[in-house]
Amino acid sequence: MPTKKAASTHIESALLEKRVFKPSKKFSDAAKIGSLAEYEKLYKASIKDPEKFFAQQAEELHWFKKWKKVMQWKAPFAQWFIGGKINASYNCLDRHLTSWRRNKAAIIWEGEFGDERTLTYQQLHREVCKAANMLRSLGVRSGDRVAIYMGMTPELTIAVLACARIGATHSVIFGGFSAEAIRDRVNDAEAKVIITSDGTFRRGGVIELKKHVDNALKAVSTDGISGCPTVEKVIVLKRTGTEVEMWQGRDFWWQELMNEASDKHDAVPLDSEHPLYILYTSGTTGKPKGIVHTTAGYLLGAYLTTKYIFDLKEDDIFWCTADVGWVTGHSYVIYGPLANGATVMMYEGAPNFPDFGRFWDIIERRKISVFYTAPTAIRAFIRAGDEFPKRHDLSSLRLLGTVGEPINPEAWMWYHKTIGGGRCPITDTWWQTETGAIMIAPIPGAIATKPGSATKPFFGIEPEVVSKEGIPVKANEGGFLIIRKPWPWMLRGIYKDPQRFEKQYFSEFPGIYFTGDGARRDKDGYFWIMGRVDDVINVSGHRIGTMEVESALVAFESVAEAAVVGRPDEIKGSALVAFVTLKSGSTGSEEVKMQLREHVAKEIGSFAKPDDIHFSDALPKTRSGKIMRRLLRELASTGNVKGDTTTLEDFSVLEKLRQVEEE
Ligand code: PRX
Repeated sequence: MPTKKAASTHIESALLEKRVFKPSKKFSDAAKIGSLAEYEKLYKASIKDPEKFFAQQAEELHWFKKWKKVMQWKAPFAQWFIGGKINASYNCLDRHLTSWRRNKAAIIWEGEFGDERTLTYQQLHREVCKAANMLRSLGVRSGDRVAIYMGMTPELTIAVLACARIGATHSVIFGGFSAEAIRDRVNDAEAKVIITSDGTFRRGGVIELKKHVDNALKAVSTDGISGCPTVEKVIVLKRTGTEVEMWQGRDFWWQELMNEASDKHDAVPLDSEHPLYILYTSGTTGKPKGIVHTTAGYLLGAYLTTKYIFDLKEDDIFWCTADVGWVTGHSYVIYGPLANGATVMMYEGAPNFPDFGRFWDIIERRKISVFYTAPTAIRAFIRAGDEFPKRHDLSSLRLLGTVGEPINPEAWMWYHKTIGGGRCPITDTWWQTETGAIMIAPIPGAIATKPGSATKPFFGIEPEVVSKEGIPVKANEGGFLIIRKPWPWMLRGIYKDPQRFEKQYFSEFPGIYFTGDGARRDKDGYFWIMGRVDDVINVSGHRIGTMEVESALVAFESVAEAAVVGRPDEIKGSALVAFVTLKSGSTGSEEVKMQLREHVAKEIGSFAKPDDIHFSDALPKTRSGKIMRRLLRELASTGNVKGDTTTLEDFSVLEKLRQVEEE
């Protein structure tokens, strides 16, 4: 249940709001939507009759059979383009083969050590057809689930589009997740096949992906499930040459199967509402949620937002630096740009390998024109120093984007000046795994930006900021961000858990989608996202549920109780702080802290390791036994506690915790 801490929060914004950046005349003149008036006219029409608007836009996609009904809404369940038959892979590939675009680069890829490959639309289509036949030969059918745990190589895109082509629902698992996390996700999705690789290069080393998959297949969960009983086959791409164990009859080399596969495959016409993918994300309980997106509505969202928000031009080279393991990679490395026939830059490795100049070097050499990255990365670049971007010619850039977390105005200004040379608009895009594609962001040729604001909603999207009673708040007043009406690219559910879906998103404000974010809207109608109001913490743009980390900590032998909260962090946005009570007889030490961190890495992944761990004899609780996270948050952020502590059961606990903080 959200704490609603944002409802009464006000942000002093007068200074920031004065800094308004208009797109240049040159940019607006060349843009798809070149003025505020044009945006407003279209936006009004889209809100007045969203079904008409989205139906018109959907005509731009390829349909095997047109829909009969645009939308049906029985809260919280939406259906879009009912009766239509479509295929996402066909839309991303086949329809570009009838024009000159067949010889256009679809993917320009670079490995961490500088190896490179370019695949034209025609070549990518061939590879995807072969991969579709490969999956079919292993018995994968429409409706089956396929888990994908790979590094950022073109084969990841090929695997995703091959699933979409035959109607298998893909579930991509980020390469940073541990064996235990893979097992939980594979089992929840009941995946039949896992596609992985021997390894991937990152920061000069190898991440041994197949080994993690092997461990997942062997691991026994706390509820006694051994390995992944539904998995029949594992396909392994040879990428790093790392030695791997191959189980006869279960494991197959990608390259061998692909050599045998035919390159002819007709994309399967699928229902609009056919589940395209499941993507697991953290929620407010210990168990991750399998967010389900379906085919037509999602594809329309990825297509339309890429087209307008990145104002795509035919000769753009579009680079979204996100990993395909997260939703940003799904929508803006694969489906959005490829549905638009764009050229996508894809990079395998780390931004700081061999040094912090890697991204700028890629931009210069590849002539990247649209660049989309996360505020955390920007803050890390600022800290690394201007000498890295200054060594490179970044004049090919014409548009910049950010995603995943609020961007602080200082980082925005640096991005604007040092990377954008003062000439590139910045589109700060607000959205979520659940929303599927961008919801609030400046259309760059039309909407003037204010550093730190995601500005205005996309066409057909009606966000609002409301009080806890669901009443719209006044301008500049903080409240809860909701989306009043269904939109085509909204999630369709939590996999196999309709009750949790309803409770999580549609019960706080009955029948209305609650984002879990706090926000305010200024007098110009600009949205300012204030961050999560539930027990989800955004660390480096990755969503981490505090309960997930707590469950991992409590599973450690000597831990009696744990509470995890966030504190502001200069680079990562938020850092994770764990307060841990050990069982009697155990004492906390630096060594135990290290063991706890490693334990969390094993249970979830390295990115979820707590930054600070504090041992304490007890945790502050209410009389009913609930941990008072607000106090812990305050303590972690400021080292002190103010405000109401009247429900606190044992005041001495706070005193002890303060001492712990001071040590
Ligand atoms: O709190 C918001 C924040 O990231 C959350 C969604 O996380 P996830 O599902 O992992 O998706 C990240 C990529 C879309 C949101 O609830 N968030 C995302 N974009 C922004 C943001 N906060 C502020 N400004 C943004 N532009």
